[in-house]
Amino acid sequence: EKEGFEHFMLKEIYEQPKAVADTISPRIKDGNVVLDELEMTEEDIKKISRIQMVACGSAYHVCMCGKYILEQMAKIPVDVDLASEFRYRQPILGDNTLVIVISQSGETADSLAALREAKKLGHKVLAIVNVVGSSIAREADSVLYTWAGPEISVATTKAYSTQLAAIYLIALLFGRTREVINQEDYKKYVAELGRLPEKIQRILDEKERIQWLANKFSHAKDVFFIGRGLDYAISMEGSLKLKEISYIHSEAYAAGELKHGTISLIENGVLVIGVATQPELFEKEISNLVEVRSRGASVLGLTLYGNYAMEDIADFTIYVPKTEDYFTTSLAVIPLQLLAYYISVARGLDVDKPRNLAKSVTVE
Ligand code: M6R
Repeated sequence: EKEGFEHFMLKEIYEQPKAVADTISPRIKDGNVVLDELEMTEEDIKKISRIQMVACGSAYHVCMCGKYILEQMAKIPVDVDLASEFRYRQPILGDNTLVIVISQSGETADSLAALREAKKLGHKVLAIVNVVGSSIAREADSVLYTWAGPEISVATTKAYSTQLAAIYLIALLFGRTREVINQEDYKKYVAELGRLPEKIQRILDEKERIQWLANKFSHAKDVFFIGRGLDYAISMEGSLKLKEISYIHSEAYAAGELKHGTISLIENGVLVIGVATQPELFEKEISNLVEVRSRGASVLGLTLYGNYAMEDIADFTIYVPKTEDYFTTSLAVIPLQLLAYYISVARGLDVDKPRNLAKSVTVE
């Protein structure tokens, strides 16, 4: 069933344009985001005073993106917790807090326990789930399904991308209903959502360059992914993907935190991947890259076409197409998935079934 692909992971990476389109397009009607499945009235949406997001692993990284996106687009404060922490920390959630649980499998033990905890505290739980009829889907008050189709590879790719798409839809609906996005911007965002699948495809069409870079860095010992804002959230996903299937030690750091300790680890031979897609933070990120480079790191920059200043400082640069700032994660994550994939292949590892890992973590 790999349909000619060498691994499920690569097949699933290539399914992303379709998976994202399948998740978005049925929910756009006459140019508007319609999410009947949330079973929320305008009144319900206006009443939300806070959002608490909970998940594990890559789904947690989607929550991290969700915080930036929902706070900025819908102007609702968002807290994010790892499900394994949330369930035991005796959380205090104020009135009218909407809890959002994200899970591909819908069976992750900690995420399910977090959902039960939130319900016990009397909060509404909205689940973003891929597997239809799974435990989390059944126990949540409402479900927004991601239409990624079955995901076989342990390392998630297309589920992650569709979860992000689900966040964009929610952010647009909430922002518009609460009248914090004007009609003109709203139309612009909705139109751009429709273009994401084709832009993802364009990146996939340039996979040879990533493969070349992967072969170059396949012997790396330590890799640091750094970014600010949404780029920090993407860095977390890029780092997890790499360590999960290549067994290379890697860490994601908020670029501004490097100075508070981690920069002491930077020396000759360390690879730093600098993610810089957010225009307002670009200059700051570049100055962080200058710092690590002057301490001997090799720098691989990841930015948008047009940001050619990256080449002044990076040894190598990967470009992705321009999109709305809120949606760049959907594009920037694709080369990072491909990089992890091809490094794992170059190291001769079991890409689809990395050691010590299960697709669905149903025990604590
Ligand atoms: O099924 P879930 O989305 O709840 O799974 C959560 C994590 O176990 C999962 O995202 C894991 O981190 C992936 N293997 C990462 O690629």
